[in-house]
Amino acid sequence: MPVTEPLTILGIETSCDETAAAVVRRHGSGQPGEILSNVVFSQIEEHAPFGGVVPEIAARAHVEHLDGLIELALRDAEIGWDDLDGIAATAGPGLIGGVIVGLMTAKGIAAARGLPFIGLNHLEGHALTARMTDALPFPYLLLLVSGGHSQLLVVEGVGHYRRLGTTIDDAVGEAFDKVAKLLGLGYPGGPAVERAAREGNPLRFPLPRPMMGRPGCDFSFSGLKTAVRQAAEGLETVTGQDKADIAASFQNAVADVLCERTENAMALADDVIPPGHRRLVVAGGVAANMLLRECLMVSAHACGYEFVVPPLKLCTDNGAMIAWAGAERLALGLTDPIDAGPRARWPLDPDAAPARGAGVKA
Ligand code: KG4
Ligand code: ZN
Repeated sequence: MPVTEPLTILGIETSCDETAAAVVRRHGSGQPGEILSNVVFSQIEEHAPFGGVVPEIAARAHVEHLDGLIELALRDAEIGWDDLDGIAATAGPGLIGGVIVGLMTAKGIAAARGLPFIGLNHLEGHALTARMTDALPFPYLLLLVSGGHSQLLVVEGVGHYRRLGTTIDDAVGEAFDKVAKLLGLGYPGGPAVERAAREGNPLRFPLPRPMMGRPGCDFSFSGLKTAVRQAAEGLETVTGQDKADIAASFQNAVADVLCERTENAMALADDVIPPGHRRLVVAGGVAANMLLRECLMVSAHACGYEFVVPPLKLCTDNGAMIAWAGAERLALGLTDPIDAGPRARWPLDPDAAPARGAGVKA
């Protein structure tokens, strides 16, 4: 049964290396969300010595920090427990130890306070963020680019996603992270590559553009990553300038591929997205990349699409996107039983066939 609005939701995110809690208010259909608080503890310092996320360390860090962050989120929002209408937490996909920490915490609060509980697909959090920021109506085209996923989807409604394309190997964020690691640029990889690329010559290394020119809108990044390694290995010594040039060449190749694939998706989506709704939304951590934002905006406009991208801090993982998606679900009366389990893998479009050549990615 739909619920009376406004709805004030606490959102908890613990699926990777950010521990996050937020309070968001949904005032009603067609209105943007109001972020009352949004606190994120980044575990960068804990993982940096290992050059990437260590799942066990992430889970422990979530345990250590989550309670304090929830308290802070309520305090920043200037509300008490009685002001909440529901608790939402990421239930997957992600690193399972971390997911369990957030999920069990949310269930504990929901049970103790007698509040509705929503166990969310993390990807739905990214997918619906543009409705919180820009009050976008359904349907719209979504390019979801994060550390674990690269997908093009038509967002038809809450819980309704039609996948047009996906990666057949690495996710784009994963490619950024691996390239950063092999160039010794550090972790987290995406921002490190972007920073290095600013000083680099994007034309120095002619890297491949996998899948470009092929029909459809699937992606592949594994070959590009290998080509980057070969470019680095082909140099006698790798100077700071070499690294910058490789980073810039890699970033340009990614931008070319993402734009071309997304242009194909816009052409395909024309059949299902009516003229007044032609909007391209970019979401997920990689959407924080300035070059990609600029190139995708040009592509969108060339295809007659409006371009919508959330502010930087709402692209990377955060609690507000989880609270908002929880509010969207609760508004429709969609809650989860208290015994809903965590899910390491959880595709947004369960009907989509695996991409040709795909491994195990959702
Ligand atoms: O959405 P997100 O915060 O977490 C997941 O759900 O995976 O995305 C994290 C990914 C990482 O691979 C990170 O390297 C990438 O997003 N990323 C970036 C940038 N900022 C974060 N990639 C490219 N450029 C950036 N500025
Ligand atoms: Zn994410």
